[in-house]
Amino acid sequence: MTRTVYVNGEYLPENEAKISIFDRGFLMADGVYEVTSVLEGKLIDFDGHAVRLQRSLDELDMNNPISKEDLLEVHRELVRANEIDEGLIYLQITRGAPDDRDFVFPDPETTPQTIVLFTQNKPGLANAPTAQKGIKVISIDDERWGRRDIKTVQLLYPSMGKMMAKKAGKDDAWMVEDGFVTEGTSNNAYIVKGNKIITRALSNEILHGITRAAVLRFAREAQMEVEERNFTIDEAKEADEAFITSASTFVMPVVEIDDVSLGDGQVGSVAPRLREIYLEESLKKAI
Ligand code: PDD
Repeated sequence: MTRTVYVNGEYLPENEAKISIFDRGFLMADGVYEVTSVLEGKLIDFDGHAVRLQRSLDELDMNNPISKEDLLEVHRELVRANEIDEGLIYLQITRGAPDDRDFVFPDPETTPQTIVLFTQNKPGLANAPTAQKGIKVISIDDERWGRRDIKTVQLLYPSMGKMMAKKAGKDDAWMVEDGFVTEGTSNNAYIVKGNKIITRALSNEILHGITRAAVLRFAREAQMEVEERNFTIDEAKEADEAFITSASTFVMPVVEIDDVSLGDGQVGSVAPRLREIYLEESLKKAI
């Protein structure tokens, strides 16, 4: 089935969708994005993603070419047109395509932003077998820029990190800066000690995960203790459990860090419980 995608106000078959070679997303990585998950044909945490999108745009002095209501409509239309039951919706907004390459931002009045959305069909996303066995991660230096709170499309280093993990025969990488874990290549990172969930506090150094916000809220509501503070990779290796969160993995247990098994090397109890609560509660609020 040919995907229907959305480009600058039009719904088109994917092979007919085109962007200019002068688009600043292409030339300068001058763009922001969001990934929203779909379960049972409904959008998970749509509001959170829309709010973070606006924040990313504001931080980069970029106009928002679409209202929140219209954005919701586009998401829903793509889910309908592509018959998505479980999957993801990718959204990207760039500073548009001026007449020529130039470091200086173009005038937003004469250069409209580019907006693109497409779906990724992922049957079985909620019941992913990896959630049962957990993932293995390596640690790498965090060599990204300093504004990781803005969800930009500069994903080269995270891509390189995933490749380093793949070459090592593992699933993902946790990035370390000044001795402390920042986050995963495309997810937030957590360790569990006893009944305490420990994760780095929000700052410019990490992306403010929408799944993170929901999971921490549900954890507190379930009377679990949450501590937002830095932790080292050595502390992580001695933790009882570890896990990651993101829109595409929800809550995913981590069973090994740099070849060191956590606890007994099996998935623990906290991460699966949080995954279950997250899926149940966020589905109730899905739109
Ligand atoms: N990544 N940290 C980073 C660096 C991320 O790229 C992501 C999301 C997260 C988790 O954020 P959220 O819970 O809002 O998905 C944390 C998306 C899924 C991606 O790039 O595909």
